Amino acid sequence: MNQDIELAIIGCGNMGGAILDGMIAADGFPVERILVVERSAEIRSRCEQTGIPATEALADAREAKRILLAVKPQMFHEVAEGLGTLPRPTLVMSVMAGLSSKAIRKPLGEHARVVRTMPNTPCRIHAGITAVAPGIGATDEDLEQTEEILATVGEVVRVREEEMYAVTAISGSGPAYVFLLTEAWIDAATNQGIDRATAERLVRGTLQGATALVAGEEDPKSLRAAVTSKGGTTAAAIAALEARGFRDAMNEAIEAATRRGIELDSEVAS
Ligand SMILES: NC(=O)c1ccc[n+]([C@@H]2O[C@H](COP(=O)([O-])OP(=O)(O)OC[C@H]3O[C@@H](n4cnc5c(N)ncnc54)[C@H](OP(=O)(O)O)[C@@H]3O)[C@@H](O)[C@H]2O)c1
Repeated sequence: MNQDIELAIIGCGNMGGAILDGMIAADGFPVERILVVERSAEIRSRCEQTGIPATEALADAREAKRILLAVKPQMFHEVAEGLGTLPRPTLVMSVMAGLSSKAIRKPLGEHARVVRTMPNTPCRIHAGITAVAPGIGATDEDLEQTEEILATVGEVVRVREEEMYAVTAISGSGPAYVFLLTEAWIDAATNQGIDRATAERLVRGTLQGATALVAGEEDPKSLRAAVTSKGGTTAAAIAALEARGFRDAMNEAIEAATRRGIELDSEVAS
């Protein structure tokens, strides 16, 4: 019976849940042969209401053809203990930040073929971007299958595993940089006497339009040049941002997140 499970999703919170929703919406995936392993009774019952079997028992996922690990990295040891050494060749896909394929495979054993992935929160609205990297034991077919699943929640980019720390810093954590910018921008607008509701509309609308332009063919530098006339208002704003070290701040942010990923990896692996 358990050998018929095409995919076991372990942890169906924000990310696991977004991927499950994506697969359901995409159609064509045998969702009735997905098993959700989840600690939260509320999430289990929500899955069951949509016809997805759900259990708390990790051992039920041991014989699945594919396993998607979507718990917090700190929970991995407990999950691996519950799964034990995998009894047959299994594609193990991980969305866990800062946890190497070596660390994932160690407790799961030789049968685990690990593919690492790094999605981001816009996956919730099928507008994510996910980096996929082959880990230990992964075949080309494993990568293709993983990409097919993650493509249901947005774009997919293939990278090398050693690039995953930087990728996590760039696109995994990336949405938070935009949210921080949005907060600061709205606050700055209210400082000019604009009421908060109007400030929010102006900033959100500008972001929406600008990101649509960024998604096109033109490079960001020429897009910026097109709104920056010499001696004008945009030029004054950009000069103030540059004088306050905007680029250095961005660089340091990405460096700090990359470093933290490496630290997390060694903390969880030890
Ligand atoms: N959210 C993001 O933007 C994002 C982006 C990229 C990657 N990721 C990665 O995605 C992973 C999950 O993050 P998340 O935000 O989706 O976390 P989350 O919302 O907390 O989801 C994890 C789920 O797994 C459950 N769980 C924990 N231990 C379990 C166990 N032993 N057996 C079964 N279920 C268990 C949790 O239940 P409890 O709540 O009861 O613990 C929770 O419902 C993390 O490793 C993170 O690095 C997240």
